[in-house]
Amino acid sequence: MDYLKITGGKPLKGEIKISGAKNSALPILASTLLCKNLLKITNLPDVADVKTLAKLLEHLGSTIEWVNANELLVQSDRIIHTKAVYDIVRKMRASILVLGPLLARFGKCEVSLPGGCAIGARPVDLHIKAMEKMGANISIENGYIVAKAPNGLKGNDIIFDKITVTGTENILMAAALAHGETRIINAAKEPEVIQLCEILQTAGIEIKGIGSNELYIRGSDRELLEFKEIEVIPDRIEAGTYLCAGAISNSEIILKNIIPKHLEVIIGKLKEIGFNITEKDDILCIKPANKRKAFEIITTEYPGFPTDMQAQFMALATQCEGSSSIEERLFENRFMHVSELQRLGAKISLKGNVAKITGGEKLIGADVMATDLRASSALVLAGLVAQGQTQIHRIYHLDRGYEGLEEKLCGLGADILRLKEN
Ligand code: UD1
Repeated sequence: MDYLKITGGKPLKGEIKISGAKNSALPILASTLLCKNLLKITNLPDVADVKTLAKLLEHLGSTIEWVNANELLVQSDRIIHTKAVYDIVRKMRASILVLGPLLARFGKCEVSLPGGCAIGARPVDLHIKAMEKMGANISIENGYIVAKAPNGLKGNDIIFDKITVTGTENILMAAALAHGETRIINAAKEPEVIQLCEILQTAGIEIKGIGSNELYIRGSDRELLEFKEIEVIPDRIEAGTYLCAGAISNSEIILKNIIPKHLEVIIGKLKEIGFNITEKDDILCIKPANKRKAFEIITTEYPGFPTDMQAQFMALATQCEGSSSIEERLFENRFMHVSELQRLGAKISLKGNVAKITGGEKLIGADVMATDLRASSALVLAGLVAQGQTQIHRIYHLDRGYEGLEEKLCGLGADILRLKEN
């Protein structure tokens, strides 16, 4: 198993090219199950989660040819299995994204329940309830969601009790091949959901309300779709993480290949803290702040402050003047990084879903454990400014979602080594 050894306190400066969005790449790969033609997908991030979903597609019968680490050709016209097995699904919750397309196309499928997760219970009840509303008969057998709709799915009104990103994506894909019209009420509005809508629309599916909380989809009645080449949108969370690297080390960093609109709330918060951020087309530049003020964050669905950036801002809060507060509204257990940041000397108190961070304390390097994807990146950020050496263990979490994290940071002047545990 690999770990990272970071020597803190190095000044950072330079440019970083942002990779494609993991959370867009995953539903896009799942959506190829609806596609009849050979399809090229570009700007895929070279991360473990994308490889896992590609493996799942191959297991189902898709043919995948990697042109390079960021580009593939996929052909899913001859699917031979409709069972997403535990061995693959357990590696990544987002495997649930094959439920909608498989069920809509074949009228049956089995998808292993994703099981526990470090950041909370994360159930899939809303996905299941919505499929049932579209006519599926669903039971849980031996840890699998067994779904049947022998005559295909039928469009219906789906009202989500909670806004769910992958839930919205699953129903979008199911609705695209269903019979009749589906309305998704209380839909997620994340840019990754919008990209999926636009792909289906380009493939000829009528979709109204894109980018709003109410989507209307007219299905193809099980006719497979013809997709055009897809370029995955830039990763707003990766971009936000590198903005935080600039912010925590108070250095000048330029980000390329981003969509500034997707980062509005993150940029707004960094400006509030005291940073000067300029943007031009697909380029952002963060400049050092004279004084870094404490801040407050409440995580909510897009376009609100993303839960996926909460941990990185907590690391940043340790370097701001005064007491910051972070309230987590989406995932009940997404504070695993708190105890690890405390090991580095951070002053954080936790009450329910609110963390209070007293800034201005010096961080000192230590051994810490990565617990989930974004928590891991917060530890890397803290390690960049901690005195001495920080060893981050279990970094397979990082490899799930960040392409070449240490190469990118070392390119800016950071001192990070990837080593093997004894
Ligand atoms: C997606 C993102 C993840 C991000 C999260 C919230 C992907 C692959 N992952 O995860 O990075 O942190 O959105 O922005 O895109 N819920 C239920 N029942 C369900 C589904 C969800 O109760 O059936 C709850 C969840 O426990 C959570 C909330 O709804 O409290 C939102 O979760 P959801 O948007 O579904 O997260 P994911 O789609 O899993």
